[in-house]
Amino acid sequence: MCGIVAYVGPRTASPIIIKGLKRLEYRGYDSAGIALIEDSNLTIYKKKGKVADLEAELGSHQSTSSIGIGHTRWATHGEPNDVNAHPHFSESSDLAIIHNGIIENYASIKTDLTNKGYEFRSDTDSEVFIYFIEDIKKRNNCSLEEAVRLALHKVVGAYAIVIMSRDDPDTLIAARKGSPLVVGIGKNEYFLASDATPIIEYTNEVVYMNDQEMAIISPQNLTIKTTQDVETTPYIQTLDLELDAIEKGGYDHFMLKEIFEQPRSVGDCMRGRLNAATGHLLLGGIREYANKLENAERIIIVACGTSWHAGLVAEYFFEEFCRIPVEVEYASEFRYRNPVIREGDVVIAISQSGETADTLAAIELAKSKGAIIFGVCNVVGSSIARSSHEGAYTHAGPEIGVASTKAFTAQLTVLFMIGLRVAHQKGSIPESVFREILVEMEQIPAKIERALQLNQQIQYIADLFKDARNFLYLGRGYNFPVALEGALKLKEISYIHAEGYPAAEMKHGPIALIDEEMPVVFIATNDNSYEKVVSNIQEVRARKGRVIAIVTEGDTLIPKMAEFVIEVPATHAALMPMVAVIPLQLLSYHIAVMRGCNVDQPRNLAKSVTVE
Ligand code: G6P
Repeated sequence: MCGIVAYVGPRTASPIIIKGLKRLEYRGYDSAGIALIEDSNLTIYKKKGKVADLEAELGSHQSTSSIGIGHTRWATHGEPNDVNAHPHFSESSDLAIIHNGIIENYASIKTDLTNKGYEFRSDTDSEVFIYFIEDIKKRNNCSLEEAVRLALHKVVGAYAIVIMSRDDPDTLIAARKGSPLVVGIGKNEYFLASDATPIIEYTNEVVYMNDQEMAIISPQNLTIKTTQDVETTPYIQTLDLELDAIEKGGYDHFMLKEIFEQPRSVGDCMRGRLNAATGHLLLGGIREYANKLENAERIIIVACGTSWHAGLVAEYFFEEFCRIPVEVEYASEFRYRNPVIREGDVVIAISQSGETADTLAAIELAKSKGAIIFGVCNVVGSSIARSSHEGAYTHAGPEIGVASTKAFTAQLTVLFMIGLRVAHQKGSIPESVFREILVEMEQIPAKIERALQLNQQIQYIADLFKDARNFLYLGRGYNFPVALEGALKLKEISYIHAEGYPAAEMKHGPIALIDEEMPVVFIATNDNSYEKVVSNIQEVRARKGRVIAIVTEGDTLIPKMAEFVIEVPATHAALMPMVAVIPLQLLSYHIAVMRGCNVDQPRNLAKSVTVE
């Protein structure tokens, strides 16, 4: 959601913070702000809009402050405007806070403070938080650190916060619960950020803060304590992240770069884990609990958004090859419906960011009932990765475009590897099929590469349909989740209403929508439901719907009935989602660009949804 960047050290803080905010802008982008120490006072600059608007606001103003906190916001409490932007002052303006998360009991705290005579400037829960801290500090006549700690014991909700004080201009106080915070360790300097992307150009030594921890940071010293005031030894990790992985590398948008990275990211995901020639298939992160997976009576998959779609594909795969029943749950529903979870149940949590609040809460719930959690995450060191018992990283590299692309194909790669390994260990897959799929898996990067060559043809189709008001996406079997994902991609970035359906369900409702203006995208590759999908295409044609069909190369039947045919390379039916999704990603990308939409930062969305 929101992005946090802070700095303390010998350098001038504001350029580091502004650059860092730009790198984090994918997390939230409705307003941005920065607090600095200037002439012994706390000064805040903040602006509705992008970080570039904040930069313009700062103009030629040169600050020499060597400490600062910055924030890019995704509004929860209060509309996006200059006043609600972070940082927020305390009542006296002696303290400033940046906050990612939601303080759930802010209303009652606000009422108490209002009754004491406090007047608030903004509508945010974050401002209430810093007023509250200041009030505690005054009433208890204690240090800021102590006041923060006392306040943390009273607030309910999720937060990552960083606080600066006019009276202690060399110190940052940070805390986290539920929202990520990373400390970067330089030479006599420290960086704080919501993820490592703003930090890696300065240092690759980082500490991921844990929930219920506070950090007290000055240029010479980093102290980490629990909120119970017990000092802990920071666990310093060395990051393996290249700067060019978070830059556009000549592409117009991160999303396009990430779509085109997929042959490599899928390959990276399999590297060292799968070898078709030798039959080797092993995920290093799943060892101790591997037998729990193999012996599971059922598997519950929890996820949100695109990751949930990856989970649906996995359901088909696991049930077909492992013969284990699978339930795929929206994490947000699962966590609140008192689900039946038995001791030893297996839960697979899928998340690109590893920070999605609902998925994290679903994990905690399942864990509390004795389930074993396997995390499938992209971001190394993320909260979900750390709260899982075991798991496997997708190794897709940083995904900056808000609409998920390469993370999806990497998630499928990991899930297929998990499924194949389990099936093989259980003996529920014939050796020949196991070997055949391994060979096909190895060829997926090359097949994605070929699918990417369809770019121009898809651009042409995009131009014809860019003004459509609705889209329908239909597929069956493994291609049903692909239809959902295609529709999600389109609505996320082009704001065209799109729905995905199992093709056969069309006649139970969506068929009423079909007329000569309705584009219907069929994922109609060659599998065991092919003929049934062909019938569904006929049904759409009979109602004058405009059919765009994704078919297997060499298909001679569908070209006779569809208006547009996009041919993708053949692969095993179970692996087809990894190839068939490519033209759908490209189609939504081009339509969005042609409609003048901001594809990397679509309105109202956020990359990492750290609030529920
Ligand atoms: C947000 C993003 C989606 C993503 C979903 C789940 O809505 O915009 O692209 O699929 O969150 O995120 P996760 O990081 O858990 O995969």
